[in-house]
Amino acid sequence: MPRAKIVATGSYLPEKVLTNHDLEEMVDTSDEWITKRTGIKKRHIAADDEASSDLAVEAIQDALDSIDMDAKELDLILVATVTQDTDFPSTACWIQKKLDVKNMPAFDITAACSGFVYGLTIARSFIESGLYKNIALVGVETLSKILNWEDRGTCVLLGDGAGAVIVQATEEEDESGIISSYLGADGHKGRLLIKEAEGSLNPATHETIDKGMHYIKMEGRETFKNAVRVMKKSSVKAIKEAGIKDKDIDLVITHQANIRIINSLAKRLHADSENVYITVDKHANTSAASIPLALDDANKNGKIKKGDHVLLTAFGGGLTWGSVVLRW
Ligand code: ACO
Repeated sequence: MPRAKIVATGSYLPEKVLTNHDLEEMVDTSDEWITKRTGIKKRHIAADDEASSDLAVEAIQDALDSIDMDAKELDLILVATVTQDTDFPSTACWIQKKLDVKNMPAFDITAACSGFVYGLTIARSFIESGLYKNIALVGVETLSKILNWEDRGTCVLLGDGAGAVIVQATEEEDESGIISSYLGADGHKGRLLIKEAEGSLNPATHETIDKGMHYIKMEGRETFKNAVRVMKKSSVKAIKEAGIKDKDIDLVITHQANIRIINSLAKRLHADSENVYITVDKHANTSAASIPLALDDANKNGKIKKGDHVLLTAFGGGLTWGSVVLRW
């Protein structure tokens, strides 16, 4: 059976940077509060004319260029996002058009901040089944476009960006590739993190706009508690399924939502701080893009060596959660 291996990573961050000090001018907040409660110092913000597909194309191209691969060689395009260009066509189809390729299937995955880990598990299944050999998976968000910039409880937390990987079929003897995945969801807790309007439940009307129902809403404290619990649970399951122990993990990359969540989880997984990769300070929470952005950052900074075990773990709206263990 072929194994699914990440053979390239890429990323793209919009040019505009918004610091905590910039936010002090916009809402009643402070650099001190944001830094202490979240670890965030700055975030990137997409330009008015930049859609999620524009960011995603740059990230995919970055990954393809790193291995001299042509987009025509891809046989599937997967996109994890909650900030689609349009509900339909899917963002994946817009990306396909902008990459100037066609015929291979392309679709979006909606699992909020867990979308990339869900996508990696889908890519793994397609490759192990023998159906596809070269898959581009991108986690991308332009959350700035669905934020209420007057709500200090959410607007200081989120950012825009895209991170991509090329997942390829391999039969190399080194046993590299995705070695375990564990996914979960709890729809009963959907209201903790929600964009209420613009779907069939609450179609867009003047009233939904006036009530701000097209913006992200979040119950921060409750989300926090669930985040640590479910990421611990899914990490333990994925590590066990991989047939290794906590101490065998060389690098932990969690969803980058809040430094306190990351540190609490690291403690529960007995991980040393130098083995836990942090980008929340410079990217903020970029939802489905956060793990692939951090993975690309770690890869380009030489933090991952051949043979390393890497744990990716996420949680997000839905609620959804998931973990993947890779051998690099
Ligand atoms: N600046 C200053 N004060 C603020 C701000 C702000 N930006 N935001 C809230 N406060 C105030 C609150 O009003 C509250 O004041 P009060 O005590 O007078 O009522 C006080 O700070 C404490 O608020 P809490 O919400 O209790 O603060 P907490 O320590 O829980 O931190 C935070 C809030 C950062 C949101 C935290 O709960 C968190 O990170 N939760 C998880 C969020 C998350 O991970 N979301 C993930 C997914 S996002 C997605 O899926 C797209």
